Amino acid sequence: MPGATIGAPYLRCIGCDADVTAPTEDFACPACGDRLEVAYRPHGAPDSYMMKTLWRVRKISATPTDLSGVWRFREALPILPAAFEPVTLREGNTPLYTLRRCARAAGVDALMAKHQGMNPTGSFKDTGMTTALSMARVGGFQWVGCASTGNTSASMAAYAAHAGMRALVLIPEGKIAWGKLSQSLDYAAITCQLKTDFDGCVRVLGEVIRRFPLYLLNSVNPYRLEGQKTTAYEMMEQFGWEPPDHVIVPGGNLGNSSALGKGFREMLALGLIGRLPRLSIIQASGANPLVRSMKEFGGERIEPVRAETRATAIRIGNPASWKKAVAVLRETGGACEDVTEAEIAAAKAEIGADGVGCEPASAVTLAGLKNLVRSGFVKRGESVVLVLTGHCLKDPEYTMDFHRDAAAAGDRELRKPPVVLDADPAAVIDLLNRMGM
Ligand code: F0G
Repeated sequence: MPGATIGAPYLRCIGCDADVTAPTEDFACPACGDRLEVAYRPHGAPDSYMMKTLWRVRKISATPTDLSGVWRFREALPILPAAFEPVTLREGNTPLYTLRRCARAAGVDALMAKHQGMNPTGSFKDTGMTTALSMARVGGFQWVGCASTGNTSASMAAYAAHAGMRALVLIPEGKIAWGKLSQSLDYAAITCQLKTDFDGCVRVLGEVIRRFPLYLLNSVNPYRLEGQKTTAYEMMEQFGWEPPDHVIVPGGNLGNSSALGKGFREMLALGLIGRLPRLSIIQASGANPLVRSMKEFGGERIEPVRAETRATAIRIGNPASWKKAVAVLRETGGACEDVTEAEIAAAKAEIGADGVGCEPASAVTLAGLKNLVRSGFVKRGESVVLVLTGHCLKDPEYTMDFHRDAAAAGDRELRKPPVVLDADPAAVIDLLNRMGM
């Protein structure tokens, strides 16, 4: 029905603007080699009131597609052929939490967290996996694959297993969190730990897909970003379609920041929101190619770095979607900063101490916010949303190391190491007394 969706989808090259019908296996433009995005040819003005109402009402429907926090926004997504149901595990519909303690620590009046770790496999990747893996099934593929720092692989493995497809995971050996690796095994993927880093895994997979019929599910796949953009839609719905002043996201391969930015841009064009929030991207200082690109080259080019950070999810030196992320920073007027390992560790413990919790990579958002408040970029009275990308249980080793590190000088009041006592109530009561009333 004309006007019922935002338009007819097609793939557009972000470099030469070509309309691409036959992308390369790694979703590049065959003419100029740049990245692709899903664009929509408008076919009549969609009714924004109708869409907002439909999206809300679907939450109380009984069908899996409506209950998905991604597919309930399907008027803004590529449509699957009638014979295909989306592959869904009820992703999306994630909570918005208030962070009181973190707000005080950062120096803002109010702080919210959109917790994407509350997705079925514990990270935001599920919101893009449901769309891209559904496209793989439409394309008739048996095999899907990805290079990953652990969350994409966990998500892909789950969705592939659920769809009855086979999954190949390439991860850097020794540099991913156990929670994530164990998920990939549990969801029965073929898991290869390569003796290289994430960027090396991407290179190997790029060669594999040229020689083997395997559908690529890294975030260069534009259908991943379409699913991930719905988080922006959902966030605006949760805010009554009144955007916050700032949205802050971690930056790794830069797919997520690009996707959220695309969501906000589309909503503005559709008249669903009246202005854009500033979208800021935070990287770890040991893995900060975008920060350097912005500072040294004004975002015009990027130089890969040798990435090192204990926030392994964002241990990425050569981000695929950097051009899209630069466009988002420019359009929304967002900041791009990096934070130290110590700042990440403290921020993670503070988010935990608010009863919310997240994995290390997600905590860069709070660490970054503190710096942005200090520099005056974020004002005390402005509204801020941190996008927490992964669940606290993804990387328990990191958490244990932080709290058990009794020798550490800083963040004493944040460290809560387990206390070993005799099995004696008096010992426990004595401990409580020493804690004070
Ligand atoms: N936060 C978490 C928890 C992640 O897993 C990732 C990326 C990011 C942030 C960064 O998002 O890459 O879109 O900029 N993880 C990927 C993976 C690379 O393989 O799981 P990005």
